[in-house]
Amino acid sequence: MNERRNITHRPRRLRASEPLRRMVRETTLAPDDFIYPLFVAHGEGLRRPIPSMPGVFHFSVDTLLRECEEALADGVPSVLLFGLPEGKDARGSEAYADDGIVQRAVRALKRELPGLLVVTDVCLCEYTSHGHCGVVEGGQVLNDPSLDLLARTAVSHAAAGADVVAPSDMMDARVGAIRQALDVEGFENVALMSYAAKYASAFYGPFRDAAGSAPAFGDRRSYQMDPGNRREALKEVQLDIEEGADLVMVKPALPYLDIVRDVREMTDLPVAAYNVSGEYAMVKAAAQNGWIDERRAVLELLTGIRRAGADIILTYHAREAARWLREG
Ligand code: PBG
Repeated sequence: MNERRNITHRPRRLRASEPLRRMVRETTLAPDDFIYPLFVAHGEGLRRPIPSMPGVFHFSVDTLLRECEEALADGVPSVLLFGLPEGKDARGSEAYADDGIVQRAVRALKRELPGLLVVTDVCLCEYTSHGHCGVVEGGQVLNDPSLDLLARTAVSHAAAGADVVAPSDMMDARVGAIRQALDVEGFENVALMSYAAKYASAFYGPFRDAAGSAPAFGDRRSYQMDPGNRREALKEVQLDIEEGADLVMVKPALPYLDIVRDVREMTDLPVAAYNVSGEYAMVKAAAQNGWIDERRAVLELLTGIRRAGADIILTYHAREAARWLREG
C-alpha cells in the first residue's frame, strides 16, 4: 500500500492544517457585517418569546436597550427595528406617529447607546388593520397614495435619530419619494437601504406571526416579486439606485443567492441580503431536533451568503454568530 504516484496538482496540500485553511480562505465572516433585527412593543419589562423563532423575543424599550447593549458587547454593531403598535387602523397611523413605538425606541437607543447603528424598517403592514404594506381601497393596494405615508414614516424615524431607513414595502417610486422627503426635512445625511429585490416569499411566515402583519385578505403578490424572476430583480435594483438608494438589499437570502451575485455584479453600492425568519426557523427546528450541528450550519450559511456577494447580512443569528466567531 506504499504506492506513490507522480501527481502534479494536489489541492489537498492547502487543506492540511487549520492555519493553512484559514490563510487561503477566500470568504470570511465578521460581526461588523451583521445587522441584528429586533421587535419592539409597548409596555415595560417585556421579553416575550416568539414560538416560531426560538431565541427571538418581543422587547419593550427598556429590555430592548439591554439586548442592544449585549449585542454591542458581542461585537454586533447594528440593529434593524420593527414595531408592534398599540393599535392598528386603515392608514397605519402609528407607523408615522412621533410617539410611535419605533420612534420611542430609536430615541432611547440613540440616547443610551450612541455607538449603536440604528436602522429602521419603513413599512405600513405592522400598523394597518388590513395588514398590507400600503393604502387599500376596493380590495386593491394603491401605489401612489401609499408613498406619502411611507415618506412620513421615514421622516419620523429620521427625526427620532435613525441612522439608516430601510423601506420594505415594494411600492413603485418609494425610494425617490422617501429620499426627497428626507432631504426637504433636513435629513440629507440619513442613509437609505432599500429592500430592492424583495420576493413574495413563504419564508416570511414566522415574521408575520412575530409582527402580527399577515395580510387580512389576499397576499402580497401584487407588490412583492415573483420568485421565478431574475431580470426583474435587476430592474428593481436599478430603479432604486436611480432614485437614490445608498445600499440595496435582496430578500430572502438563501433561495436567492444567484440574485445576490447578479446584484453584486451590476452595482458598486454595498449589497445586503436578508436571512429571513423562515430560514432562521428551519435551522432552529432542525437543531432542536438534533438533526444538524447548529453552529456549523449557521456559520456555513452565513459564509454562503457572503460568498454569493453580500457585504452585509441581516440575520437573527447575529449575536450567536458573533460569539461563535470570537471563540474561533
Ligand atoms: C414588512 C417586512 C417583512 C419582513 C421584513 N419587513 C414581512 C413581509 O413582507 O411580509 C420579513 C422579515 C422576515 O421574514 O424575517 N414588509
